[in-house]
Amino acid sequence: MTSHPTTSELAVEVVDSMEQVSGTYPGYRRAHARGACFDATFTPSGDAAALTTAAHLQRTPVPATVRFSNSNGSPHTLDGARAGRGIAVKFRLPDGSATDLVAVNLPVFLASTPENFLNLLGALKKDPVTGVTDPARVGAYIQNNPEAAAGFQAAATMPIPVSYGTARYWAIHAFEWTDAEGRSRFVRYRWEPDLGLHELSEEDGAVLPEEYLTEELVRRLENGPVGFTLHVQLAEPGDPTNDATKAWPADREEIVAGRLEITAPVADQAHWAAEIFDPTRVTKGIALSDDPILAFRNQAYAVSYSRRTHNA
Ligand code: HEM
Repeated sequence: MTSHPTTSELAVEVVDSMEQVSGTYPGYRRAHARGACFDATFTPSGDAAALTTAAHLQRTPVPATVRFSNSNGSPHTLDGARAGRGIAVKFRLPDGSATDLVAVNLPVFLASTPENFLNLLGALKKDPVTGVTDPARVGAYIQNNPEAAAGFQAAATMPIPVSYGTARYWAIHAFEWTDAEGRSRFVRYRWEPDLGLHELSEEDGAVLPEEYLTEELVRRLENGPVGFTLHVQLAEPGDPTNDATKAWPADREEIVAGRLEITAPVADQAHWAAEIFDPTRVTKGIALSDDPILAFRNQAYAVSYSRRTHNA
């Protein structure tokens, strides 16, 4: 008799499957393995202060640490290929605590539940005979989970950015903001690059050095900071808060909550590489939505963190 796994057993199973898809690289994150960290400052616009009591969204700038990454679980994939890119931001708050915002260059996710994500990983595993993923199995996953189609469509056309600073990034999940009077509103976050959106063709991307994105950003920062504005979409009643595969209507009200200015690579890359950026690390004035993927990420990231910090 097989018993249904508890959620943490599911997290172990998911991370095991991620390793089967991408390989195991001791000491590295099981997703977004290659990345680099940068010093930054986040300056709130003040426009979010009426909607949330979160300390970094009032009026005073806070220091932040930013990790840009290539989404692959292997640290040796080409930056020039069409693939996910991440921006993880740790805002350091005046009381000594921190809150994280983790985003990718994809507006919606490829699964609505952790169980479906496990099924997707099963479909992505390389065929032992051919050594490559069987597109028919991925097609069958989308057919069985039609809500995932929008995410796959976005992934197929995601840009190969000229720079980490020329891509748009979404945090995907809904979060709940609460104001000083206790009134709540659901929101979704998006980073818009000051530099605008600039992408490469597949041919141009293929001939760039493996790690060109980090090298490019380090060089670019020698000539001045690179910025992003934090756009926040406000939900209307009835907008789904528990499904990362579903976007909200494009005409929902938005505010600009602030601007992130990235200034230089951190002095101690090894220290920051070993840190964890966890989308469930929220702060007073921000709560998690009921999205099951969001809550699950905390457990999957903990499994990956535990393995990589034990050099597994
Ligand atoms: C079931 C869904 C997901 C699973 C199982 C998963 C799993 C993971 C794991 C294991 C890591 C490495 C964690 C570490 O060792 O610190 C990671 C990193 C990351 N994930 Fe996810 N993830 C999921 C969904 C998402 C979504 C929806 C987003 C985008 C909003 C996302 C963006 C990222 C980013 C940007 C990183 C790198 C964070 C850093 O730089 O430290 N992931 N993910």
